[in-house]
Amino acid sequence: MSNAASSTEAANEPLQAGSDSFAIPRHVAIIMDGNGRWAAARGLPRVEGHRRGVEALRKTVRAAADLGISYVTIFSFSSENWTRPASEIKDLLGLLRRFVRNDLADLHKSNVRVRIIGERDDLDRDIRLMLEEAEDLTRNNDGLTLVVAFNYGARQEIARAARRLAYEVAAGRLAADAVTPELLTRQLDASDVPDPDVIIRTSGEQRLSNFLLWQAAYSELVFVPINWPDFDRSALEAAIAEYHRRERRFGGLIAQTGS
Ligand code: IPE
Ligand code: IPE
Ligand code: MG
Repeated sequence: MSNAASSTEAANEPLQAGSDSFAIPRHVAIIMDGNGRWAAARGLPRVEGHRRGVEALRKTVRAAADLGISYVTIFSFSSENWTRPASEIKDLLGLLRRFVRNDLADLHKSNVRVRIIGERDDLDRDIRLMLEEAEDLTRNNDGLTLVVAFNYGARQEIARAARRLAYEVAAGRLAADAVTPELLTRQLDASDVPDPDVIIRTSGEQRLSNFLLWQAAYSELVFVPINWPDFDRSALEAAIAEYHRRERRFGGLIAQTGS
């Protein structure tokens, strides 16, 4: 077998405990939570928290690129967030539109490649086109990859992947026995993106809320008490420092020193 594995092949190999695990994480995923509480604490409407959240996102993407992180996945809107009041959904969609309108050119200039994960088929056409535009414009960039989880739920993503394999089996192109974790991984929304090394959640909540359930199998989870609008470069660095204090084992044993 060739040692010159393509970057895509290498992408899904876990980092080895005791070696690369102390390097800068390759993939940082973030559950940007606490916008509403940030606003409430200041007597402001929730939308103001979301607005400030967009600023925190800008700062974080810039900091991540400077730190040499290759992939950042952000949870921007969950499949379950549709249960919020219509006015809040309108505000969130408005901010997404404004973010793409105002920031896409800058992201492109900074060589950021934008990827979108989540269910697109049931989105309004204008939103779908906007997401496609962001991906198309930045497709050939080779700097930081920004994966935006929009209308995203991990169970839904896994079900979509399973459904695609089921169609293949039903069509006689795939044996049911050939279904493996690797094959299912390949059907996920961004199958070439490596699993997150670390998942950061702000606001003090300690749960995944249907985010990257499959990909999080061996991710380190870092929960930070601050609300998302207060997140910045130093908070990102502190979360990465916490990640470095963890001992990643991937089910094995820590490599012997000197061996
Ligand atoms: C995160 O902040 C943004 C989204 C979920 C879209 P929240 O809106 O969940 O803020 P809290 O959790 O109510 O404070
Ligand atoms: C998760 O936050 C979704 C996003 C950050 C987009 P939520 O605020 O929706 O999660 P729960 O409801 O507290 O679990
Ligand atoms: Mg929340």
